[in-house]
Amino acid sequence: MNVMNSVQMLEFSQKGDERGHLVIVEGMEDVPFEIKRIFYIYGSDKDVVRGQHANQESEFVLINVAGTSKIKVKDGKGNEAIYSLNRPHTGIYLPKMVWKEMYDFSPDSVLLCLASTHYDGKEYIRNYEDFIKIINGDAK
Ligand code: TYD
Repeated sequence: MNVMNSVQMLEFSQKGDERGHLVIVEGMEDVPFEIKRIFYIYGSDKDVVRGQHANQESEFVLINVAGTSKIKVKDGKGNEAIYSLNRPHTGIYLPKMVWKEMYDFSPDSVLLCLASTHYDGKEYIRNYEDFIKIINGDAK
């Protein structure tokens, strides 16, 4: 299956009441992996582009729990898609081996990232040319 077809927006359960909102995200229930790690990104200026890498092992779900941002996803074969994250109860699922760029952060953006792995810098592909070579099977 084309990896771009597995990139998808997720909508999480909301159990808000008169006291306020509550959104639930459970591993293997609301996201398709056990959550091993969370990190969050905030304080990025509007002209900053983050990410710019692909992961050989990690899957992610990204949620703008506050504010907004955009995610550009590329498969290295010429296909790309742009998603807007703008509601605290929606997220985007990113499978392994997609190139991702996060940008257009609002000043109040808090981008929560759920990951299927513990951090291992060696599984990151940070050079786009290397990514294309690996995707096309001609890495050295
Ligand atoms: P980086 O991957 O460049 O962030 P982004 O994808 O948001 O642009 O990570 C920034 C730094 O933080 C880099 O030195 C690696 C480190 N880092 C960790 O140590 N653990 C983690 O879980 C993450 C995501 C990053």
